[in-house]
Amino acid sequence: MKAFYTSILILLPSLISALPNELAEVEVDKRACVSFTNPLTNTTGCCDTVTAELFWINILLGIGVCCPLGQVLEGYNCVAPSSNGSTCTGEPVCPNKTGSDLGIKYGHCYVLLSLNNNYLGHDSGTKYVVNGENPGVVFRVCGDTTNCITSADDYVTTNGTWYMQDQFGDPNGSGFAWLGGSGDLSIQNSSSSALVMGGSPTCFGGSCAICISFPPGGAHAPCPLAPGQSHLGIAPNPNSCQNFYWQEVPCRSEK
Ligand SMILES: *[C@@H]1O[C@H](CO)[C@@H](O)[C@H](O)[C@H]1NC(C)=O
Ligand SMILES: *[C@@H]1O[C@H](CO)[C@@H](O)[C@H](O)[C@H]1NC(C)=O
Ligand SMILES: *[C@@H]1O[C@H](CO)[C@@H](O)[C@H](O)[C@H]1NC(C)=O
Ligand SMILES: *[C@@H]1O[C@H](CO)[C@@H](O)[C@H](O)[C@H]1NC(C)=O
Ligand SMILES: *[C@@H]1O[C@H](CO)[C@@H](O)[C@H](O)[C@H]1NC(C)=O
Ligand SMILES: *[C@@H]1O[C@H](CO)[C@@H](O)[C@H](O)[C@H]1NC(C)=O
Repeated sequence: MKAFYTSILILLPSLISALPNELAEVEVDKRACVSFTNPLTNTTGCCDTVTAELFWINILLGIGVCCPLGQVLEGYNCVAPSSNGSTCTGEPVCPNKTGSDLGIKYGHCYVLLSLNNNYLGHDSGTKYVVNGENPGVVFRVCGDTTNCITSADDYVTTNGTWYMQDQFGDPNGSGFAWLGGSGDLSIQNSSSSALVMGGSPTCFGGSCAICISFPPGGAHAPCPLAPGQSHLGIAPNPNSCQNFYWQEVPCRSEK
């Protein structure tokens, strides 16, 4: 298993003379405490999983964010789901400043809705498809493919690029994965084949959308599918692009 847990036993000076019930309390501390490193501050801490939830950004590197129970991860920030954060409003994201950014933020997580109201997801294999067998894959917008902290919380500029971390991963693999490949784009276990993505702001019926491309090329469905479905693919023509409404959702914890 990929998971590792480093439990830190808080050694109390009185431990040697501890009574049995005090020892029991120490045992609770030991089980509740999981060490982690916050990716933005680089500070190392101990997450008490009785009163908090540790969201793993990269479980192998021990990188995570410890949030009070009941809060969710918006980018790398713990927010109350009912707060004015943008997670789960169902609204497509819009540019913060028209003409300057796309509205999506580095480090934040999104689901992509097609113009005919079907979510982008996985087919029964490893291909990305609109209206496939496993729709609604959660993607983190990453400025890099190592620890995904480049430009964290900044808006992606209109000519900015990013990588799509696939927070469902390969069904037969482990951990998070990356959107990439060639032909019909597919889940990549390795970040080395992750594709760089760009986008242009647009709107349909008054709702903001982003037309995605794969610089230096564009994007296009590589082959015919049933109506309402489409794969993702690279197009030689940078003018060709694939439209999606982007909705922010809480980021997931790697398992
Ligand atoms: C945290 O560490 C990474 C690499 O180890 C470094 O790139 C980054 O600048 C550090 N961040 C802070 C806030 O110290
Ligand atoms: C939430 O945002 C709305 C509009 O964006 C604002 O009217 C409202 O006061 C905000 N609520 C809180 C609790 O900040
Ligand atoms: C978003 O727009 C507001 C108002 O134009 C501006 O004050 C703020 O700095 C912008 N936020 C970012 C992160 O660019
Ligand atoms: C996972 O592995 C099984 C058994 O090898 C295979 O039948 C299936 O197609 C694989 N699924 C994916 C998504 O690759
Ligand atoms: C966007 O691209 C144009 C043309 O390549 C360049 O002049 C401009 O500085 C870029 N803007 C940003 C914000 O990167
Ligand atoms: C990802 O890794 C798993 C486990 O090694 C393997 O079964 C799967 O085929 C790989 N997927 C791809 C798309 O290479």
